[in-house]
Amino acid sequence: MATTVWTRRHVLGLADFTPAEFDTVLQTAASFQEVLSTRTKKVPALQGHVVANLFFEPSTRTRSSFELAARRLSADTLNFAAGTSSLTKGETILDTAKTYLAMGADMMVIRHREAGVPHAIAAEMNQLGVRVSILNAGDGQHEHPSQGLLDLFTITSLIDFEYPRLGLLAGKKVAIVGDILHSRVARSNIWSLTSSKAEVHLAGPPTLLPKLFADIVDPEISTPEDSSIQNPKSKIQNRKLFLHWDLEPALKDADFVMTLRLQRERMASHLLPSLREYHQHYGITRDRLKLCNPNVKILHPGPVNRGVEISSELMDDPQFSLISQQVTSGVAVRMALLYLMGSGKN
Ligand code: CP
Repeated sequence: MATTVWTRRHVLGLADFTPAEFDTVLQTAASFQEVLSTRTKKVPALQGHVVANLFFEPSTRTRSSFELAARRLSADTLNFAAGTSSLTKGETILDTAKTYLAMGADMMVIRHREAGVPHAIAAEMNQLGVRVSILNAGDGQHEHPSQGLLDLFTITSLIDFEYPRLGLLAGKKVAIVGDILHSRVARSNIWSLTSSKAEVHLAGPPTLLPKLFADIVDPEISTPEDSSIQNPKSKIQNRKLFLHWDLEPALKDADFVMTLRLQRERMASHLLPSLREYHQHYGITRDRLKLCNPNVKILHPGPVNRGVEISSELMDDPQFSLISQQVTSGVAVRMALLYLMGSGKN
Protein backbone atom coordinates (compact mmCIF):
# COMPACT_ATOMS: atom_id res chain seq x y z
CA MET A 1 0.00 0.00 0.00
CA ALA A 2 1.24 3.54 -0.76
CA THR A 3 2.91 5.24 2.20
CA THR A 4 2.32 8.93 1.35
CA VAL A 5 0.19 10.68 3.96
CA TRP A 6 -3.20 11.58 2.53
CA THR A 7 -4.56 14.87 3.84
CA ARG A 8 -7.35 15.64 1.36
CA ARG A 9 -10.81 15.51 2.94
CA HIS A 10 -12.86 15.94 -0.25
CA VAL A 11 -12.15 14.92 -3.86
CA LEU A 12 -13.97 17.50 -5.98
CA GLY A 13 -11.69 17.65 -9.03
CA LEU A 14 -8.20 16.88 -10.30
CA ALA A 15 -7.18 20.45 -11.14
CA ASP A 16 -5.30 20.85 -7.86
CA PHE A 17 -4.05 17.26 -7.46
CA THR A 18 -0.30 16.98 -6.90
CA PRO A 19 1.83 14.34 -8.66
CA ALA A 20 2.31 12.66 -5.24
CA GLU A 21 -1.48 12.42 -4.79
CA PHE A 22 -1.93 10.89 -8.25
CA ASP A 23 0.75 8.31 -7.46
CA THR A 24 -0.78 7.54 -4.07
CA VAL A 25 -4.15 6.79 -5.69
CA LEU A 26 -2.50 4.69 -8.43
CA GLN A 27 -0.47 2.61 -6.00
CA THR A 28 -3.35 2.17 -3.54
CA ALA A 29 -5.57 1.07 -6.45
CA ALA A 30 -2.90 -1.45 -7.52
CA SER A 31 -3.03 -2.97 -4.02
CA PHE A 32 -6.81 -3.22 -4.20
CA GLN A 33 -6.60 -4.74 -7.68
CA GLU A 34 -4.64 -7.52 -6.00
CA VAL A 35 -7.32 -7.87 -3.29
CA LEU A 36 -9.97 -8.12 -6.02
CA SER A 37 -8.09 -11.01 -7.59
CA THR A 38 -8.32 -13.11 -4.39
CA ARG A 39 -11.22 -15.45 -3.60
CA THR A 40 -12.79 -13.25 -0.89
CA LYS A 41 -12.25 -9.93 -2.77
CA LYS A 42 -12.92 -8.10 0.48
CA VAL A 43 -11.03 -6.31 3.28
CA PRO A 44 -12.36 -4.96 6.60
CA ALA A 45 -10.76 -1.50 6.09
CA LEU A 46 -13.96 0.57 6.35
CA GLN A 47 -16.01 -1.61 8.68
CA GLY A 48 -18.56 0.57 10.48
CA HIS A 49 -18.31 3.38 7.89
CA VAL A 50 -21.34 4.54 5.92
CA VAL A 51 -21.01 5.57 2.26
CA ALA A 52 -24.04 7.40 0.80
CA ASN A 53 -24.37 7.43 -2.99
CA LEU A 54 -26.37 10.55 -3.85
CA PHE A 55 -26.97 10.46 -7.59
CA PHE A 56 -29.18 13.29 -8.84
CA GLU A 57 -28.41 12.33 -12.47
CA PRO A 58 -28.48 8.86 -14.11
CA SER A 59 -25.42 6.59 -13.97
CA THR A 60 -24.60 2.94 -14.53
CA ARG A 61 -20.84 2.57 -14.08
CA THR A 62 -19.97 5.22 -11.51
CA ARG A 63 -22.83 4.49 -9.18
CA SER A 64 -22.50 0.70 -9.26
CA SER A 65 -18.73 0.70 -8.95
CA PHE A 66 -18.75 3.12 -5.99
CA GLU A 67 -21.28 0.85 -4.32
CA LEU A 68 -19.26 -2.30 -5.03
CA ALA A 69 -16.05 -0.55 -3.93
CA ALA A 70 -17.63 0.45 -0.62
CA ARG A 71 -18.88 -3.10 -0.03
CA ARG A 72 -15.50 -4.61 -0.87
CA LEU A 73 -14.10 -2.36 1.89
CA SER A 74 -16.83 -3.66 4.27
CA ALA A 75 -18.58 -0.26 4.53
CA ASP A 76 -22.37 0.04 4.71
CA THR A 77 -23.95 1.76 1.72
CA LEU A 78 -26.98 3.97 1.30
CA ASN A 79 -28.34 4.50 -2.19
CA PHE A 80 -30.45 7.46 -3.17
CA ALA A 81 -32.39 7.89 -6.39
CA ALA A 82 -33.62 11.41 -7.05
CA GLY A 83 -36.86 10.35 -8.76
CA THR A 84 -38.13 8.38 -5.76
CA SER A 85 -36.78 10.71 -3.06
CA SER A 86 -38.29 13.55 -1.05
CA LEU A 87 -36.76 15.98 -3.56
CA THR A 88 -40.02 15.40 -5.43
CA LYS A 89 -41.81 16.93 -2.40
CA GLY A 90 -39.67 20.05 -2.40
CA GLU A 91 -36.80 19.05 -0.11
CA THR A 92 -33.58 20.87 -1.06
CA ILE A 93 -30.32 19.20 -2.05
CA LEU A 94 -28.54 20.57 1.02
CA ASP A 95 -31.31 19.30 3.31
CA THR A 96 -31.07 15.91 1.57
CA ALA A 97 -27.32 15.83 2.31
CA LYS A 98 -27.94 16.84 5.94
CA THR A 99 -30.51 14.04 6.24
CA TYR A 100 -27.85 11.50 5.21
CA LEU A 101 -25.41 13.15 7.61
CA ALA A 102 -27.90 12.65 10.43
CA MET A 103 -28.06 8.95 9.55
CA GLY A 104 -24.31 8.73 10.08
CA ALA A 105 -22.89 8.99 6.55
CA ASP A 106 -19.09 9.32 6.67
CA MET A 107 -18.69 9.81 2.93
CA MET A 108 -21.07 11.13 0.29
CA VAL A 109 -20.57 10.35 -3.40
CA ILE A 110 -22.42 13.02 -5.39
CA ARG A 111 -23.42 13.32 -9.04
CA HIS A 112 -25.46 16.24 -10.32
CA ARG A 113 -26.14 17.74 -13.73
CA GLU A 114 -25.18 21.21 -12.45
CA ALA A 115 -21.50 22.05 -12.00
CA GLY A 116 -20.60 22.95 -8.42
CA VAL A 117 -23.21 20.97 -6.47
CA PRO A 118 -20.62 18.67 -4.78
CA HIS A 119 -18.60 21.79 -3.90
CA ALA A 120 -21.66 23.45 -2.33
CA ILE A 121 -22.35 20.36 -0.23
CA ALA A 122 -18.68 20.13 0.80
CA ALA A 123 -18.74 23.81 1.81
CA GLU A 124 -21.87 23.22 3.89
CA MET A 125 -20.27 20.22 5.63
CA ASN A 126 -17.12 22.26 6.34
CA GLN A 127 -19.30 25.04 7.76
CA LEU A 128 -21.03 22.56 10.04
CA GLY A 129 -17.62 21.37 11.23
CA VAL A 130 -18.37 17.69 10.52
CA ARG A 131 -15.78 15.19 9.28
CA VAL A 132 -17.76 14.03 6.26
CA SER A 133 -15.93 13.53 2.95
CA ILE A 134 -17.49 14.50 -0.37
CA LEU A 135 -16.53 12.76 -3.62
CA ASN A 136 -17.56 14.35 -6.89
CA ALA A 137 -19.01 11.61 -9.11
CA GLY A 138 -19.54 14.04 -12.01
CA ASP A 139 -20.90 17.59 -11.86
CA GLY A 140 -22.29 19.05 -15.07
CA GLN A 141 -19.57 19.96 -17.53
CA HIS A 142 -17.03 20.57 -14.78
CA GLU A 143 -15.13 17.45 -13.59
CA HIS A 144 -15.41 13.70 -13.10
CA PRO A 145 -12.33 13.03 -10.97
CA SER A 146 -12.83 9.31 -10.28
CA GLN A 147 -13.20 8.72 -14.05
CA GLY A 148 -9.98 10.66 -14.71
CA LEU A 149 -8.21 8.58 -12.06
CA LEU A 150 -9.50 5.26 -13.37
CA ASP A 151 -8.45 6.23 -16.90
CA LEU A 152 -4.99 7.09 -15.57
CA PHE A 153 -4.86 3.78 -13.70
CA THR A 154 -5.99 1.81 -16.78
CA ILE A 155 -3.25 3.35 -18.93
CA THR A 156 -0.41 3.23 -16.40
CA SER A 157 -1.17 -0.30 -15.17
CA LEU A 158 -1.13 -1.46 -18.79
CA ILE A 159 2.47 -0.20 -18.96
CA ASP A 160 3.48 -1.52 -15.51
CA PHE A 161 0.86 -3.68 -13.83
CA GLU A 162 2.78 -4.00 -10.53
CA TYR A 163 3.76 -0.36 -10.15
CA PRO A 164 1.50 2.07 -12.04
CA ARG A 165 2.69 5.66 -11.68
CA LEU A 166 2.46 9.05 -13.36
CA GLY A 167 6.08 9.00 -14.59
CA LEU A 168 5.31 6.11 -16.97
CA LEU A 169 3.47 8.51 -19.29
CA ALA A 170 6.35 10.91 -19.95
CA GLY A 171 6.72 11.19 -23.73
CA LYS A 172 3.48 9.32 -24.51
CA LYS A 173 0.92 10.91 -26.82
CA VAL A 174 -2.74 10.79 -25.80
CA ALA A 175 -5.49 12.03 -28.16
CA ILE A 176 -8.86 13.01 -26.65
CA VAL A 177 -11.44 13.17 -29.43
CA GLY A 178 -15.00 14.42 -29.74
CA ASP A 179 -17.34 16.50 -27.62
CA ILE A 180 -14.71 18.18 -25.47
CA LEU A 181 -16.91 21.20 -24.74
CA HIS A 182 -19.51 19.28 -22.73
CA SER A 183 -17.19 16.67 -21.25
CA ARG A 184 -16.32 16.64 -17.57
CA VAL A 185 -14.28 13.50 -18.33
CA ALA A 186 -12.10 15.46 -20.77
CA ARG A 187 -11.49 18.17 -18.17
CA SER A 188 -10.43 15.71 -15.46
CA ASN A 189 -8.24 13.80 -17.93
CA ILE A 190 -6.56 16.99 -19.12
CA TRP A 191 -5.49 17.73 -15.54
CA SER A 192 -4.24 14.24 -14.77
CA LEU A 193 -2.58 13.48 -18.12
CA THR A 194 -0.83 16.82 -18.44
CA SER A 195 0.49 16.37 -14.88
CA SER A 196 2.08 13.17 -16.11
CA LYS A 197 4.09 15.01 -18.80
CA ALA A 198 2.22 13.16 -21.53
CA GLU A 199 1.42 15.15 -24.67
CA VAL A 200 -2.35 15.64 -24.71
CA HIS A 201 -3.98 16.40 -28.08
CA LEU A 202 -7.63 17.49 -28.12
CA ALA A 203 -9.53 17.07 -31.39
CA GLY A 204 -13.09 17.92 -32.32
CA PRO A 205 -15.21 20.20 -34.47
CA PRO A 206 -14.91 23.92 -33.63
CA THR A 207 -18.43 23.92 -32.16
CA LEU A 208 -17.37 21.25 -29.63
CA LEU A 209 -13.78 22.41 -29.16
CA PRO A 210 -13.78 26.21 -28.92
CA LYS A 211 -10.38 27.89 -29.13
CA LEU A 212 -11.02 29.26 -25.68
CA PHE A 213 -10.74 25.72 -24.35
CA ALA A 214 -7.04 26.47 -24.05
CA ASP A 215 -8.14 28.57 -21.03
CA ILE A 216 -8.21 25.35 -19.09
CA VAL A 217 -4.47 25.55 -18.82
CA ASP A 218 -4.00 29.28 -19.23
CA PRO A 219 -6.79 31.87 -19.17
CA GLU A 220 -4.45 34.48 -20.65
CA ILE A 221 -3.48 32.57 -23.74
CA SER A 222 -4.30 34.11 -27.09
CA THR A 223 -4.88 31.45 -29.71
CA PRO A 224 -4.00 31.78 -33.40
CA GLU A 225 -6.59 31.57 -36.16
CA ASP A 226 -5.40 28.32 -37.73
CA SER A 227 -7.03 25.00 -36.94
CA SER A 228 -4.08 23.51 -35.10
CA ILE A 229 -3.18 25.41 -31.99
CA GLN A 230 0.28 24.30 -31.05
CA ASN A 231 1.85 24.10 -27.67
CA PRO A 232 0.02 26.85 -25.78
CA LYS A 233 1.82 28.51 -22.94
CA SER A 234 0.81 26.96 -19.70
CA LYS A 235 0.44 28.55 -16.30
CA ILE A 236 1.66 25.22 -14.95
CA GLN A 237 5.07 24.73 -16.46
CA ASN A 238 5.67 21.94 -18.91
CA ARG A 239 2.04 20.91 -19.40
CA LYS A 240 1.71 19.93 -23.04
CA LEU A 241 -1.76 20.55 -24.44
CA PHE A 242 -2.54 20.86 -28.18
CA LEU A 243 -5.87 21.64 -29.84
CA HIS A 244 -6.90 20.46 -33.32
CA TRP A 245 -10.02 20.85 -35.41
CA ASP A 246 -8.78 18.13 -37.75
CA LEU A 247 -8.50 14.59 -36.45
CA GLU A 248 -5.40 13.48 -38.33
CA PRO A 249 -2.71 15.51 -36.48
CA ALA A 250 -4.17 14.38 -33.15
CA LEU A 251 -4.11 10.70 -34.14
CA LYS A 252 -0.66 10.72 -35.75
CA ASP A 253 1.60 8.39 -33.71
CA ALA A 254 -0.80 8.47 -30.75
CA ASP A 255 -0.22 5.83 -28.07
CA PHE A 256 -3.72 6.17 -26.61
CA VAL A 257 -6.94 7.53 -28.12
CA MET A 258 -9.77 8.48 -25.81
CA THR A 259 -13.01 9.02 -27.67
CA LEU A 260 -15.93 10.79 -26.00
CA ARG A 261 -19.69 10.48 -26.25
CA LEU A 262 -21.60 13.26 -27.97
CA GLN A 263 -23.49 14.67 -24.99
CA ARG A 264 -26.65 15.65 -26.78
CA GLU A 265 -28.49 16.18 -23.47
CA ARG A 266 -26.08 19.06 -22.73
CA MET A 267 -26.23 20.69 -26.20
CA ALA A 268 -28.36 23.81 -26.03
CA SER A 269 -28.44 24.22 -29.82
CA HIS A 270 -27.68 22.28 -32.98
CA LEU A 271 -23.91 22.04 -32.88
CA LEU A 272 -23.55 19.34 -35.53
CA PRO A 273 -24.95 18.88 -39.06
CA SER A 274 -25.71 15.16 -38.54
CA LEU A 275 -24.43 12.13 -36.64
CA ARG A 276 -23.43 10.49 -39.92
CA GLU A 277 -21.32 13.47 -40.90
CA TYR A 278 -19.80 13.60 -37.41
CA HIS A 279 -18.79 9.94 -37.70
CA GLN A 280 -17.28 10.59 -41.13
CA HIS A 281 -15.05 13.37 -39.78
CA TYR A 282 -14.34 12.39 -36.17
CA GLY A 283 -15.44 8.76 -35.69
CA ILE A 284 -12.66 6.40 -34.60
CA THR A 285 -12.42 3.50 -37.04
CA ARG A 286 -9.92 0.75 -37.75
CA ASP A 287 -8.82 2.62 -40.86
CA ARG A 288 -8.09 5.81 -38.93
CA LEU A 289 -6.04 3.89 -36.36
CA LYS A 290 -3.44 3.31 -39.07
CA LEU A 291 -2.25 6.86 -38.32
CA CYS A 292 -1.47 5.94 -34.71
CA ASN A 293 1.33 4.01 -33.04
CA PRO A 294 0.83 0.35 -34.12
CA ASN A 295 0.26 -0.59 -30.44
CA VAL A 296 -2.38 2.11 -29.91
CA LYS A 297 -5.15 1.49 -27.36
CA ILE A 298 -8.62 3.01 -27.36
CA LEU A 299 -10.46 4.30 -24.30
CA HIS A 300 -14.03 5.52 -23.86
CA PRO A 301 -15.59 6.47 -20.51
CA GLY A 302 -18.99 5.12 -21.57
CA PRO A 303 -21.82 5.06 -22.24
CA VAL A 304 -20.96 4.62 -25.94
CA ASN A 305 -23.00 5.63 -28.98
CA ARG A 306 -21.93 2.73 -31.20
CA GLY A 307 -21.21 3.82 -34.76
CA VAL A 308 -21.05 7.52 -33.85
CA GLU A 309 -17.87 8.33 -31.92
CA ILE A 310 -16.39 4.85 -32.48
CA SER A 311 -17.19 2.04 -34.88
CA SER A 312 -19.05 -0.81 -33.22
CA GLU A 313 -16.53 -3.49 -34.23
CA LEU A 314 -13.58 -1.47 -32.87
CA MET A 315 -15.30 -0.99 -29.53
CA ASP A 316 -15.41 -4.79 -29.07
CA ASP A 317 -11.93 -5.53 -30.45
CA PRO A 318 -9.69 -6.67 -27.55
CA GLN A 319 -6.57 -5.87 -29.57
CA PHE A 320 -7.37 -2.16 -29.33
CA SER A 321 -10.18 -1.55 -26.86
CA LEU A 322 -9.57 -0.90 -23.14
CA ILE A 323 -13.23 -0.03 -22.54
CA SER A 324 -14.07 -3.10 -20.41
CA GLN A 325 -10.75 -2.72 -18.58
CA GLN A 326 -11.72 0.86 -17.68
CA VAL A 327 -14.89 -0.41 -16.02
CA THR A 328 -12.92 -3.09 -14.13
CA SER A 329 -10.32 -0.51 -13.02
CA GLY A 330 -13.15 1.68 -11.71
CA VAL A 331 -13.78 -0.62 -8.75
CA ALA A 332 -10.13 -0.70 -7.57
CA VAL A 333 -9.70 3.05 -8.07
CA ARG A 334 -12.90 3.88 -6.19
CA MET A 335 -11.83 1.50 -3.39
CA ALA A 336 -8.57 3.47 -3.25
CA LEU A 337 -10.40 6.81 -3.01
CA LEU A 338 -12.83 5.62 -0.34
CA TYR A 339 -10.00 4.00 1.62
CA LEU A 340 -7.74 7.07 1.49
CA MET A 341 -10.54 9.41 2.50
CA GLY A 342 -12.06 7.09 5.08
CA SER A 343 -8.99 5.75 6.85
CA GLY A 344 -7.91 7.85 9.77
CA LYS A 345 -11.50 8.65 10.69
CA ASN A 346 -11.92 5.74 13.13
N1 CP B 1 -18.43 7.05 -17.31
C1 CP B 1 -19.53 7.31 -16.59
O1 CP B 1 -19.58 8.24 -15.80
O2 CP B 1 -20.56 6.43 -16.81
P1 CP B 1 -21.94 6.44 -16.03
O3 CP B 1 -22.69 7.67 -16.46
O4 CP B 1 -22.62 5.16 -16.46
O5 CP B 1 -21.66 6.48 -14.56
